[in-house]
Amino acid sequence: MPTQETVNVPRYHLSQRLVHWLMAVLVLLAIAIGTPLGVLGFEGAEAAFGSGPTDLLYISHKTIGVLLLGFITLRVMLRLVFGKPPYAVPLPALQRRLSRLVHALLYALLIVMPMLGWSATASGGFPINFFHWELPPILSRNPDLSEQLFFWHAVTAWSILGLVALHVAGAVYHWRIRRDGVMRRMSLLP
Ligand code: HEM
Ligand code: HEM
Repeated sequence: MPTQETVNVPRYHLSQRLVHWLMAVLVLLAIAIGTPLGVLGFEGAEAAFGSGPTDLLYISHKTIGVLLLGFITLRVMLRLVFGKPPYAVPLPALQRRLSRLVHALLYALLIVMPMLGWSATASGGFPINFFHWELPPILSRNPDLSEQLFFWHAVTAWSILGLVALHVAGAVYHWRIRRDGVMRRMSLLP
């Protein structure tokens, strides 16, 4: 007996699904690498001028962060072009509102997050590493401002993590309990 899980439900465009999963991996990686950097403290950001193990952490964190800024821009454009597919089984009003809110907040924070990282790093007088290049600082040196921006960079990271936890709980609920095809909308499986 085919369930909603196995029938042809409308899906996000393949490009939207690819970018969703690529960003999901990169966001978690950015947080996993960022956390030890936060522990090292603000002064440590200077280390990214060198080439030791700590520098590599800084360089990879900043590179992933800048990539995420590019991907979120692409993703917003894809969303404007392809929109959101209709649900195979209409969602109850509360779930619809809650999921819209969580998605909108995730989009907003994914735009704000790399901008905070870039401006905090620039105002700290530290390099904006992107692979082996250096991107332009978008703010002039101002250590007090930098410290505040890094504070908000950390607050935004934990907010993203909280929202992702809610988001994943919702996805698992639809996948295993409601079995209403919501997971298939974003799945890369055939
Ligand atoms: C195991 C992890 C994840 C699973 C299972 C998952 C699953 C899903 C599913 C099924 C949808 C479609 C929901 C719907 O159309 O109602 C979706 C949408 C979305 N996901 Fe995820 N996701 C995961 C991780 C993430 C992460 C880490 C982020 C961002 C940090 C994220 C951001 C989003 C956003 C913004 C949407 C809305 C897409 C749109 O309507 O344009 N997801 N996700
Ligand atoms: C979506 C993208 C990003 C995410 C999810 C992210 C996440 C994080 C996290 C979780 C921390 C640790 C915060 C703490 O506990 O203090 C952190 C620190 C840091 N991030 Fe990001 N980040 C992103 C983008 C960027 C970008 C684009 C840059 C710079 C170009 C950047 C530069 C830094 C630096 C230098 C630190 C260390 C701060 C310190 O020394 O206190 N981040 N990031």
